[in-house]
Amino acid sequence: MRARRIGAAAATGLALVAARDLVQKKHALLRNFPLVGHARYVLETIGPELRQYIVTSNDEERPFSRDQRSWIYASAKGENNYFGFGTDNDVEHMQGHAYVKQRTFAGVLPDLSDPQAAVPSAKVLGGPRGRAKAFRPASVVNISAMSFGSLSGAAVTALNKGAAMAGTMQNTGEGGMSPYHLNGGDLVLQIGTSYFGCRNEDGTFNLDKLKSMVAGAPVKAIEIKLSQGAKPGLGGMLPGVKVTDEIAGIRAIPARKDCASPARHTAFHDVNSMLDFVELLAMETGLPVGIKSAVGEMDFWEELATLMGRGERGVDFVTVDGGEGGTGAAPLVFADSVSLPFRMGFSRVYGVFAERGLTDDITFIGSGKLGLPENAVVAFALGVDMINVGREAMLSIGCIQAQKCHTDKCPTGIATQHPWLARGIDVPSKGIRAAMYLRTLRRELLKVSGAVGVPHPSLITPTDIDILNGDYDARSLASVYGYKDGWGSLGPELAHEITELLTP
Ligand SMILES: Cc1cc2nc3c(=O)[nH]c(=O)nc-3n(C[C@H](O)[C@H](O)[C@H](O)COP(=O)(O)O)c2cc1C
Ligand code: SF4
Repeated sequence: MRARRIGAAAATGLALVAARDLVQKKHALLRNFPLVGHARYVLETIGPELRQYIVTSNDEERPFSRDQRSWIYASAKGENNYFGFGTDNDVEHMQGHAYVKQRTFAGVLPDLSDPQAAVPSAKVLGGPRGRAKAFRPASVVNISAMSFGSLSGAAVTALNKGAAMAGTMQNTGEGGMSPYHLNGGDLVLQIGTSYFGCRNEDGTFNLDKLKSMVAGAPVKAIEIKLSQGAKPGLGGMLPGVKVTDEIAGIRAIPARKDCASPARHTAFHDVNSMLDFVELLAMETGLPVGIKSAVGEMDFWEELATLMGRGERGVDFVTVDGGEGGTGAAPLVFADSVSLPFRMGFSRVYGVFAERGLTDDITFIGSGKLGLPENAVVAFALGVDMINVGREAMLSIGCIQAQKCHTDKCPTGIATQHPWLARGIDVPSKGIRAAMYLRTLRRELLKVSGAVGVPHPSLITPTDIDILNGDYDARSLASVYGYKDGWGSLGPELAHEITELLTP
């Protein structure tokens, strides 16, 4: 009798917890997996003690280590994101570790009085080529291309709201614009090889459709996707399980069938015709137009820089995506082994433009695990003007790195089209978390700039950072990547302009 009473009480207790899990809005995982989801939080809480004796260290997990994820989660929640007791990295012996060299005395320092402050780009996007809608991006940190389709509508909405709050732009991804992108955030419209949203029935590009898509929408720039780091040379792939009727409608494709985009564009076939296409889009829309690419062979970049050197045609921005970048779905060999990692790829591309004196005329954007302050600082020192964050933004809205994005079974409702799972996302609170993360990252960049003694991350140079080379030596970033004098730095006019802009 007593046992039965205890059993009934326990069952009632569990039912109450399950009911609370279902209605609460803080944790998508618990909303989607009532009761069971608690196991993860328990393990997370006692994880440090467990791992110390049995499992892995705070820095072993990939793509994002536990320390890196903890920093993003804490930043997104506005919690204490400091770490106690000192680094647990093996910094004395870690080959390749980057050290920022702080300055003892400095001139103009960043203004840290406003935690919400956006950090504007040091370059006017589209300015050098005189585009009608050239503008100075309000934030050096923006949200990377991730389509509605690979992400749920709720996730896209939360990111868009977060972008609006933090004053950043959100890239639509190659899946085209959806209603979920229209929640207040500015957009970069991405055009992939399937031209979703601006295509003819046969899959070719349609300029009129592009013009009507951008008219009246908060599109600030157009990005032509040539490739992405996780699967370069391979078209986009949306598995059939994710092609719902809604997505099929937006993309004008059949529902429930794998949606494979071609590997290469049909609107142009070489660098010359690509530049004609860029100029056509810029002229017809007035918007700045750029390209996104991973880095493999260098002939493409050499030819692009040579043609741009003539001054008649050119891209307004270049987004370089590192081979360590993320994807909704890709074959392992492409994710692991095709295209260069960010630092190596970006420095090669930068060098090609620097040799021709063109770097002040192009906005360089970087992506590939750059949503972590230490990586972002190195990117800025190499000459990046802005960074895009993809998976880090997903982590900020609750991704737990379960790496099931390609299965439609994302437990946190982010990378899925399953209505029950997507319902787990409480859009308003996740939007706030995305905004908090974006702001925190920007602020950390300003703090490091201050340590180096400059007011803006674009003023950090490749001689301000050393890379550990064995136990007894370190080389400057400039020397490691073969940078010549002045490379990686803004020209004097741009440096003066951004310093003036930031000086109260
Ligand atoms: C779920 C998901 C979907 C993505 N979709 C696109 C896309 O549509 N177009 C694109 O150019 N890159 C896409 N990417 C790549 C990201 O935009 C970004 O370049 C890459 O993940 C590197 O940034 P990260 O390390 O901050 O995630 C996607 C990445 C993820 C994780
Ligand atoms: S499947 Fe996993 S890694 Fe992908 S978004 Fe969902 S929680 Fe994150």
